Amino acid sequence: MRADDLNTTLERGHPGAARMLSQLGRRAALPLGIPFQAAQSRHCELQATIGEITDGAGRPLGLHAIEECFRGIDPRLALRYVPPAGLMSLREAWGRHHAAPGVPASLPIVTAGVTQGLAVCADLFCGPDTPLILGLPYWDNYDVTFGLRTGCPIWTYDFYEHGGSDARFNVAGLAAQLERVRGPAVVLLNFPNNPTGYSPGVEVEDLVRVLLAHPHPLVVITDDAYHGYVYEPDILVESLYDRLAPLADPQRLLVCRVDGATKELVFFGGRVGFLTFSASGAAADVLVEKATTLIRGVLSSGPAPSQAAVLAALNSPDLAAQTAAVLDELRGRYLALKVALLAAGLRASPFNSGCFALLPLPATLDAEAVRQRLIHEQSVGVIAVPSANALRVAFCSVSAATYPELTRRIAAVVGSTAPKL
Ligand SMILES: Cc1ncc(COP(=O)(O)O)c(C=O)c1O
Repeated sequence: MRADDLNTTLERGHPGAARMLSQLGRRAALPLGIPFQAAQSRHCELQATIGEITDGAGRPLGLHAIEECFRGIDPRLALRYVPPAGLMSLREAWGRHHAAPGVPASLPIVTAGVTQGLAVCADLFCGPDTPLILGLPYWDNYDVTFGLRTGCPIWTYDFYEHGGSDARFNVAGLAAQLERVRGPAVVLLNFPNNPTGYSPGVEVEDLVRVLLAHPHPLVVITDDAYHGYVYEPDILVESLYDRLAPLADPQRLLVCRVDGATKELVFFGGRVGFLTFSASGAAADVLVEKATTLIRGVLSSGPAPSQAAVLAALNSPDLAAQTAAVLDELRGRYLALKVALLAAGLRASPFNSGCFALLPLPATLDAEAVRQRLIHEQSVGVIAVPSANALRVAFCSVSAATYPELTRRIAAVVGSTAPKL
């Protein structure tokens, strides 16, 4: 379909999404290009469409050295192109994997990691006139994916409502930024959060209420990169998408869920992510086509062996047991880190999920200077988060046995940061 026709269809089916499109988003439409023409002729006896080197019956003339690396995967799957929107069976399987009753969802599109899903959202909806609203601190790559690439202004609010040990997610801060908005805006929410390791508890009800009540066109992106890694009761385990999408008024609100195998299935190098829209019918098809166009323009199509591996994992009868084992391991580390922090006299911001703990520093210490000292004096690598003057500790990548030593070494440089009892 031509871009004008797509936009008209979207205006009819999801006026809110249509009003949110960036200029690039409005122009995006798949040409009658090679993948499209090839798909139309896939049942033909003789196919001279795609530039793949095959035996004429669909088997690639693959090099033994490469085929050997993918022994468990049919070479017709591992070595051939997948469609720009990803392997259809994988899209369907991921859709089922995260389906929840009564939650509207487009067929997920496969992206090259969670990052590309975010970049596609940025391209579709962000621009110099559309602010991106983010809790501070946030994952630093958002500056590049959204701000640098699209020129959108980034409006921030403090992630926590206050600096205390019982602080919750700052719904009032987000609401105050939304009140400034007069036109289209994008809100990005990432739970479990990087870098804080926090997921909301009871405050999620207020959060949903604030987002649903916003009177102007709004896109909410849920970055669910750390989906499932939750260690305390009574906090948000399901995606915020599942709370918002069933209630989102298509006149105003589109919810985009970005997630992936990277952390959820512990497949960091696989580069398999997914993008799902809270739209259905023809409107969902339009958004999927526009997103697919952007992927085709940058990547042509994603990595087939990784997609095949994720599909195999989703079809594995003991997937739930395998992911539960990883969750158990991380929960154990989370509990062990809390003990070690206490013993070392270090204060962390409230955290209950994900992969990280954030250690705020007193104003007399500079996070980057402390990070340098930790490298050179203690042989400890952590991430400095200057916007919070804090250190981010990735407890997911250090074994629990070393936490007493890790925290001791950090305390040797920063001293005791825990409040005096
Ligand atoms: C919050 C957040 N979103 C997205 C990503 C990117 O995920 P991927 O590696 O799948 O692109 C990360 C990775 O660290 C992350 O922390």
